[in-house]
Amino acid sequence: MIERSLVIVKPDGVERGLVGEILRRFENTGLKIVGMKMVWIDSKFAEEHYKAHKSKPFFRELVEFITEGPVVAFAVEGVHAVENARRLVGSTSPHEAAPGTIRGDFAHLSMAYASKKGLGGKNLIHASGSKKEADDEIKLWFKKGELHSYTTVHEKHVF
Ligand code: CDP
Ligand code: MG
Repeated sequence: MIERSLVIVKPDGVERGLVGEILRRFENTGLKIVGMKMVWIDSKFAEEHYKAHKSKPFFRELVEFITEGPVVAFAVEGVHAVENARRLVGSTSPHEAAPGTIRGDFAHLSMAYASKKGLGGKNLIHASGSKKEADDEIKLWFKKGELHSYTTVHEKHVF
């Protein structure tokens, strides 16, 4: 049940100065940050990260969006980390994301609006969709030595 998930503050989140706010929300839940970096990924890396979406009509726009500025990627660890991270993030389309979620609180556009404009859906943040996706993505984004094991004060009350 203790698992890891990959979270990425996308270029719109970095440019809007939301990195601290977003990190705070993960830290508040007690999910442990076990790795973190700022990277400006290129198209090749973006295509690998989003390979599951290769055949989707929004693929090209998505790659353009995620490479338009630096991102902050971090790996979190905890109980049901994948599911918990998705709950904090909210629905893909910010206009459907519940208030209280990151997408619901800091964005409002819809994927339909973005695609009508020919743009990738700017929804601030990525979180792995499944345990398998999380394992693959963490391997892609982090080298072994960039992931750390340490004890948080939360663990006394969780584990
Ligand atoms: O990010 P999430 O797992 O919630 O959604 P996804 O279905 O895996 O899609 C990946 C990303 O593609 C989304 O977060 C959007 O940024 C983008 N997207 C888009 O631009 N247009 C769509 N119709 C659907 C997704
Ligand atoms: Mg996804």
